[in-house]
Amino acid sequence: MENAGLEIREYDPSRDGPAVRACFIELQDFERSLDLRMPPGSDVADAYLERMFQRCDEFDGVVLVAVLEDAVVGFVTIWTRHHSDEPDDDPSEHGFISDLVISSRQRGRGIGRSLLRAAEARAREAGVRSIRLSTQAGNAKARALYTAEGFAEAEIYFEKPLA
Ligand SMILES: CC(C)(COP(=O)(O)OP(=O)(O)OC[C@H]1O[C@@H](n2cnc3c(N)ncnc32)[C@H](O)[C@@H]1OP(=O)(O)O)[C@@H](O)C(=O)NCCC(=O)NCCS
Repeated sequence: MENAGLEIREYDPSRDGPAVRACFIELQDFERSLDLRMPPGSDVADAYLERMFQRCDEFDGVVLVAVLEDAVVGFVTIWTRHHSDEPDDDPSEHGFISDLVISSRQRGRGIGRSLLRAAEARAREAGVRSIRLSTQAGNAKARALYTAEGFAEAEIYFEKPLA
């Protein structure tokens, strides 16, 4: 779906902080609805965002915001040159999408897809050969989006409750 009036631009710390924080809280609270062991978004937003921006510095990352009618309605964070420090992992640099969220009232209009494509374009510009992300197994919408955009499952994480 085309979004008339949608602008995607880099995060501007002088004006976008509160809106990105609000979007992060929506993201965290959505994920928490799938796993109640996670902390509420408002409890962890400041610490999380501080770390997210530190990792942008470390891994050549950028936060892109989606703007509709002068309001930020979502964001994506792409570390364009991420690598693992684990000795047994593939050491190559790759793009890594750490966060993607659209404000609930604006979902289903193609904005998430537009942000994902913009993040992918940044990774391509950086010259990496692949782009990675992870999501909860129960997040059907996100999984449908990623699959439709050409992502395939690369690793599967299992958990078994012992209680
Ligand atoms: C996942 C999310 C980012 C998608 O953004 P969006 O703007 O709503 O998605 P789009 O409108 O661009 O839709 C893209 C694709 O997502 C999937 N999708 C979107 N809404 C869906 C729905 N209600 N049911 C099933 N699939 C859906 C479809 O594959 C869709 O493609 P299509 O329109 O060709 O069928 C958004 O729903 C969101 O912020 N969710 C909560 C936070 C989250 O889960 N973030 C991802 C964590 S990894």
